[in-house]
Amino acid sequence: MSALIEFKGFNKFFGEQQVLNGIDLSVKSGEVIVILGPSGCGKSTLLRCLNGLEAAHSGSLTFVGRELLDKATDWREVRQQIGMVFQSYHLFPHMSVLDNLLLGPLKVQKRDRCEARAQAQALLERVGLADKRDAFPRQLSGGQQQRIAIVRSLCMNPKVMLFDEVTAALDPEMVKEVLEVIQGLAREGMTLLIVTHEMAFARAVADRIVFMDAGRILEQNRPEIFFTNPQTARAQQFLEKFSYVAALPVTTQTKELELP
Ligand SMILES: Nc1ncnc2c1ncn2[C@@H]1O[C@H](COP(=O)(O)OP(=O)(O)O)[C@@H](O)[C@H]1O
Ligand SMILES: [Mg+2]
Repeated sequence: MSALIEFKGFNKFFGEQQVLNGIDLSVKSGEVIVILGPSGCGKSTLLRCLNGLEAAHSGSLTFVGRELLDKATDWREVRQQIGMVFQSYHLFPHMSVLDNLLLGPLKVQKRDRCEARAQAQALLERVGLADKRDAFPRQLSGGQQQRIAIVRSLCMNPKVMLFDEVTAALDPEMVKEVLEVIQGLAREGMTLLIVTHEMAFARAVADRIVFMDAGRILEQNRPEIFFTNPQTARAQQFLEKFSYVAALPVTTQTKELELP
């Protein structure tokens, strides 16, 4: 099957500094990719390039067979198909949860209100927040706001979802409720690119781990191999802090998420 997303010899510069270097990464529809690597290695930049948030690149980046680096690319349209959720949720504070969710479908996609509302409602139920429909963001916990931010992205019916450290700013007791939502998407066959520091989650959810260092991809492997038998010294060093993950029982996406 052809790739949904494909980086080929992809480079990205900030001024003189090259932050992505010869990236080759191919993602098939339905794959769950977790990108790991030390701080500053280029993980966020890689995701942001997929969303048209970064310029000054070279090489090739295709999405559904279409070259995104072409000047003619309509990023507004592409962004509807590539949902992205960050560490901070950026919900509109003066709008109710439902109005936040309907903004994109109604204003950007010009969809029918009844249909969009029914979808939003169904997604809220799925993440356990149906009762928060009329609440305002300030009335919700961080974990609840982050789940709403994920639903807001899903309401656009994207082909792929990008998650950049979405639990990094949350209190520990709220991390699990957000990771479970992402795991649910993985189980349903959604294509996901995930940057996370939650190693047990990474191991449980990923079809493939992509390990980066200093703007390059050093390893791509199945999680059970990456976590028990990393191929590069750099990955071994990175994983030293997370040795408990290698000892975890092999889990699959159909099992309950176990976090330490
Ligand atoms: N807007 C920017 N301007 C200049 N340099 C940047 C900018 N954003 C990121 N960088 C640099 O690019 C490199 C990769 O950053 P980033 O993609 O955020 O790494 P990661 O997400 O892996 O921590 C870092 O050296 C960072 O300092
Ligand atoms: Mg980052």
